[in-house]
Amino acid sequence: MQNFVFHIPTKVIFGRGTVSSIGPETAAWGSRCLLVHGRASSRRSGLLDRVSASLSDAGVEVFEHGGVRSNPVLSHVREGITLARQHRVEVIVAVGGGSVIDEAKAISAGSLVEHDVWKFFTGRRSIRKTLPLTTVLTLAAAGSEMNSGMVITNEETREKFGTGNQLLYPRTSILDPELTFTVPPDYTAYGAVDAVAHVLEFYMTSRDPDTPVQDRIMEGLIENAMEACDRCLADPCDYGGRAALMWTATLALNGLTAAGLGRVGFPMHMIEHSLSALYDVPHGAGLSAIIPGWLTWHSRRAPARVAGLCRRLFPFPDMERCSERELAARAITILRNWFGRINSPASLQELDIPAADIPKIARNAMALARVWRLGEYTPGIIEEILALCR
Ligand code: NZQ
Ligand code: ZN
Repeated sequence: MQNFVFHIPTKVIFGRGTVSSIGPETAAWGSRCLLVHGRASSRRSGLLDRVSASLSDAGVEVFEHGGVRSNPVLSHVREGITLARQHRVEVIVAVGGGSVIDEAKAISAGSLVEHDVWKFFTGRRSIRKTLPLTTVLTLAAAGSEMNSGMVITNEETREKFGTGNQLLYPRTSILDPELTFTVPPDYTAYGAVDAVAHVLEFYMTSRDPDTPVQDRIMEGLIENAMEACDRCLADPCDYGGRAALMWTATLALNGLTAAGLGRVGFPMHMIEHSLSALYDVPHGAGLSAIIPGWLTWHSRRAPARVAGLCRRLFPFPDMERCSERELAARAITILRNWFGRINSPASLQELDIPAADIPKIARNAMALARVWRLGEYTPGIIEEILALCR
């Protein structure tokens, strides 16, 4: 186990009927807020009115910035920054999924600097201060509600980049599973895939062979994400299933799994971000198309971790007679079949992305590979992986 500092400054208020806490939790940070939300779901469900009422009751003046789209874009972030400055807001409130929370994070940092907010994403500027952020989560997926990351797409350059900073952690996040009852089957599945991918990224890229604590946590989170997703697809209003999926997705990328692993990477995300940037693919759908191919490529070079996942999560009689490669192939098949069962695409073809585009996707992904210092990835290797995802 490697040295680590584990410090998550986000207060999570979890459970039924917790939305009314957003007002007091936000008033603690300021009396003028920018309320960032998506295109339709939170207004349709009446959640936006409940949040606005809670904020007003707590004495917080509300200025709205709605219309955040999935795979949030830089131009809309800039509009939010202008509004935040114009209304001299002291705190940002995000009501939505990962896209809304990430855009709110970008506004919280971008509204306090003179330079363009995109410079934070290309590594040309560091974040030194942010406005406080509180959130109400409406979709179990990205984990942004309890982490220091944010992902924005620059539509002009067709780049979808992520960056992180300790100052981006939300002060408080409200996680009420009932708010996710209205999440449609596709985004329920994509969210579970995203959570599984967050765990797999670290499980597969860790180089420390002696991390049993982290490994058991990660294996448990993968098992939970798969099981809870199946429950929610069977019954969208299964509170226990929605609660398990929500807390699993949050824990999958809040730093808990990575603590003690040493240096880990996000190679599958590095490639997926190009699919979302170039084709506006939902993040989780892009990941399910990448995971089988990347795991196949990875297990050809180092089968042990994928084979280990099969032993731990997908055991079967006489498995000790199988080779590492056979066990790895079996785990990949089980994941691919699960993607099929939950209707999350398991190949580029299922995303209607032609194999002829592979070189273009690889070139786009290389830009993020450089920013994320994934030095072992060349355009040729990314093309090799994408060819396995066809
Ligand atoms: O805009 P509305 O109408 O709200 O519709 C949204 C959106 O179309 C809908 N939705 C959200 N909550 C709902 C709901 N529909 C019904 N009922 C509800 N309760 O769902 C759609 C997708 O929402 P979105 O926020 O885009 O999904 P998700 O939470 O998966 O976020 C995806 C974004 O997170 C980023 C991804 O790159 C992507 O941009 N990520 C952020 C990370 C982070 N900050 O650490 C890490 C992740 O790997 C990921 O990259
Ligand atoms: Zn993700």
